[in-house]
Amino acid sequence: MKLQVLSDRLWNDFITRNPSTKKVYDLFRLEGETVVNDHIAFRTFNHPSIGIDQIAMVFLRNNYVLMGEYRFEKKKLFAKHYEHKTDKNAPRIFISELILDSFSFYLQQVIRGWINSFPEKRVYSDDIIYSGNLSGAPSYTVYEKLRHESEYAAWLYVHGFCANHYTVSVNHLKKFNSIQKVNDFVKSNGFLLNDTGGEIQGSPVDLLEQSSIKAGMIKVKFTEGKFEVPGCFYEFARRYPDNDGKLYNGFITKSADNIFDATNFYKK
Ligand code: NI
Repeated sequence: MKLQVLSDRLWNDFITRNPSTKKVYDLFRLEGETVVNDHIAFRTFNHPSIGIDQIAMVFLRNNYVLMGEYRFEKKKLFAKHYEHKTDKNAPRIFISELILDSFSFYLQQVIRGWINSFPEKRVYSDDIIYSGNLSGAPSYTVYEKLRHESEYAAWLYVHGFCANHYTVSVNHLKKFNSIQKVNDFVKSNGFLLNDTGGEIQGSPVDLLEQSSIKAGMIKVKFTEGKFEVPGCFYEFARRYPDNDGKLYNGFITKSADNIFDATNFYKK
C-alpha cells in the first residue's frame, strides 16, 4: 500500500475512533496553523506473530528505516523508532511492545489467547496498523483485571491495533511556538493535560520537550454491554538542536515512561 493512502486511512481511523482528537486538530487549523506530525505511536505485545517488527513491516516497505531502540524499565516495554529515508516531513514512527514474560501467568494466558484468535490473513496485511481489535468484542471483566496489572495491556486488549497517539511538531507551528503556549491553548479550550511527572516532559537540555492531552473517553462494545474507556490522544513535541546544530531526532525514555500514562485515567 502506498504511504499516502496508508497515512490517510490511518488518520481517518484515528479521528473516527476518537472524536476529541479531531477537535484538537481543528483548533490549530482554525488558528491558521499547519499541523505537521512529529511522530505517530503504536502499541503491541512482544509476541512472535505481532511484535514491533510485524507492525513495522508496512513502514519498512515504504522507505522507512530503523533509527533507535529504547527500553522502558518501569513500564516493562521495549520500543523502536523509524524515520523516512527521504521525506523530512514524514512523521517518525514509534512502536512499543509490552514484554509479556514480565507479567503474571494470567495476563500472559489472556493475551496469548487473544492474539491466537486473530485471523492470520489480517495479521500479515498492510492494514494491520488500523485493524482495531481483531478478536471481536472484549470482556469488560477481563479488561478490569488486566488494567490492575498493566494499563497498557488492558488498553491494547480493548482497542487492538490503531494509532495510539499523533504528535504535533511544535517546531512547525508559527503562533504556538513553545510547549507552554500549546498547553495554555489546549487547556483554555477545555482539554485536560496528562500531568504524570508534570505537564511538560523533558527539557531543552534533553533536546526534547513533550506534553499530551489525556485520552478522551470513548464508548466501547464489550461482551457485557457498552462501557466508556480511555481511547487515544494527542501529543505535542518540541525538539532542540544538539551541539552540532542538528535537531535531536530520538526519544527520551524517562519522558515517554510518563506519557504512557495519558491513557491511564485510573492513576491516582
Ligand atoms: Ni509519543
